[in-house]
Amino acid sequence: MQLQDMLYSQGFGVRRVCSGLVQQGWVELFDEETGQWRAERDSLLDVDPEGLRFRVQGVEWAYHRLGYAILNKPAGVECSQKPSAYPSIYSLLPAPLRQRPNKGAVQGLQAVGRLDQDTTGLLLLSDDGQFIHRMTSPKKHVAKVYRVTCRHPVDERQIAQLCAGVVLDDDPRPVKAAACAKVDENTLDLTLTEGKYHQVKRMVAAVGNRVEGLHRWRMGRFDLPADLQPGQWRWLSADELRLLAATS
Ligand code: URA
Repeated sequence: MQLQDMLYSQGFGVRRVCSGLVQQGWVELFDEETGQWRAERDSLLDVDPEGLRFRVQGVEWAYHRLGYAILNKPAGVECSQKPSAYPSIYSLLPAPLRQRPNKGAVQGLQAVGRLDQDTTGLLLLSDDGQFIHRMTSPKKHVAKVYRVTCRHPVDERQIAQLCAGVVLDDDPRPVKAAACAKVDENTLDLTLTEGKYHQVKRMVAAVGNRVEGLHRWRMGRFDLPADLQPGQWRWLSADELRLLAATS
């Protein structure tokens, strides 16, 4: 693959822009043999992208054929590309993640499902359509665990109802929590395997309580990394992707 094509595939702009970055000396490649970085000025250079480490304007990147990332979503940002009232989560991502070309689909990494503006925590981003489907389809049973802070103390009746199933206003079929554990007087861990609109808030309201704070901390068997601060993102490793896909 030509260097300019590799940069294009990673979201550094159209090929003309990528070629310009290389010719101006802004692109460095890591030479595994010497262990040194070197500026590369030939935009047509043939590179093997797998495992390639490169720097653009001093920032280091690794090649990702398909992108899988995690964002620790802060409160006060919307998951939409065109937010209505708050800034978009996409404003927290560097431009290459938003510009990665995507055949036949929208550009860049996309949020894997959505969290409300005031919900915090684990949000995945990807440009792999199959992965997005696997993580969001209710048929795949990927568990999402939410830490729910409730306005009123949580009682056993509420927990039993959440596990047995509650009817929400848009669907006569009851929706159930896959698990529901009391953390303290006003706090629950609620596990869902589907993602209806405002599902946690509506389920908790249906049992006579009210959500005051919502934080997603686990998907599959993957926990929000403790060292990822609110507003920060990073790529996911292959091991982390395996944990995410786990359904038990
Ligand atoms: N359920 C909700 O009510 N809100 C979210 O953001 C996620 C799940």
